[in-house]
Amino acid sequence: MQEIDWCSLGFKYMDTACHIRYVWRDGAWDAGTLVEEPYLNLHIAASCVHYGQAAFEGLKAFRCKDGRIRVFRPQENARRMMDTARRTCMAEFPEALFMEAVRRVIRANEAYVPPYGTGGALYIRPLLIGTGAQIGVAPANEYTFIVLVIPVGPYYKGGLQPVKAFVFDEYDRAAPLGVGHVKVAGNYAASLYAHERAKQAGYPVELYLDAKEHRFVEEFATSNFIGITADGRYVTPESPSILPSVTNRTLMQIARDMGMPVEVRPVPFEEVASFAEVGACGTAVVVTPVCEIRRGGTVIRIGSETGCGPVLQKLYETVQGIQYAELPDAHGWCVEAL
Ligand code: COI
Repeated sequence: MQEIDWCSLGFKYMDTACHIRYVWRDGAWDAGTLVEEPYLNLHIAASCVHYGQAAFEGLKAFRCKDGRIRVFRPQENARRMMDTARRTCMAEFPEALFMEAVRRVIRANEAYVPPYGTGGALYIRPLLIGTGAQIGVAPANEYTFIVLVIPVGPYYKGGLQPVKAFVFDEYDRAAPLGVGHVKVAGNYAASLYAHERAKQAGYPVELYLDAKEHRFVEEFATSNFIGITADGRYVTPESPSILPSVTNRTLMQIARDMGMPVEVRPVPFEEVASFAEVGACGTAVVVTPVCEIRRGGTVIRIGSETGCGPVLQKLYETVQGIQYAELPDAHGWCVEAL
């Protein structure tokens, strides 16, 4: 195993001991195998590469204060992946098997779970792809489910450092009756061009508006949108094309537990300027404050450029505290991994 500098991990791929792989053929999943080689031998007509039958998930395991390893809300990811499979006509990977796959791959990669106190986690990436040869446009007759793991630190450099977001009126992420609400790989391909343009303009993230009217806020490319009002309400957009984020649902519950009103509703773009704090939330980004949003010639500044606002800071500390077992897990979100 290579030397790892646990405290300076970013969000980058690295080889680990192995991944786990299951294959679905003739209507059934096999027993799964741990595979060391980080390569797939793929048929040239596999439906994932031609027609985008590809779905993924993102979840994390933490080495906790008591030394044990726990996974955060894995059942939610299992269920969301089944929703994605149904919407894209792929074989569903059952929840119980998902839990077993996650446990097996963590056990085999225990040495890669960052030590408690480093701020790192083991990022778990389940992937479901059509691997059957399929040249007419139709669902494949073979699927492969993989779980790979990598030790990670913060997604954006600096962790809780605020980032700036760019709103494009030229590009959309997902249509109202399309596949934005499920985690299809193509949703991310659809965001890459805008993402590169935002980065060139000095903006690490892009914020999407609803594709129909460009009136309402939807989500960032890789994370949901949260606005905190001046009177302390938690506001997050409601839309048929937003990915239902496990982190967002978690933070909403924490906010309610803290006595904050939570509003899930359409958020007109004009309302953004009135928020006291804005954040991006997701498994990879956890909570990332957003200090500036640019749309054409309009620049909205929110809070400080150098630090996180008090409400998002408290939400971040609480979710991380639960994940590392420093705070009580009142909702039973953390699942023993070993
Ligand atoms: C996650 O937060 O786990 C995601 O799936 C976003 C990813 C594209 C980095």
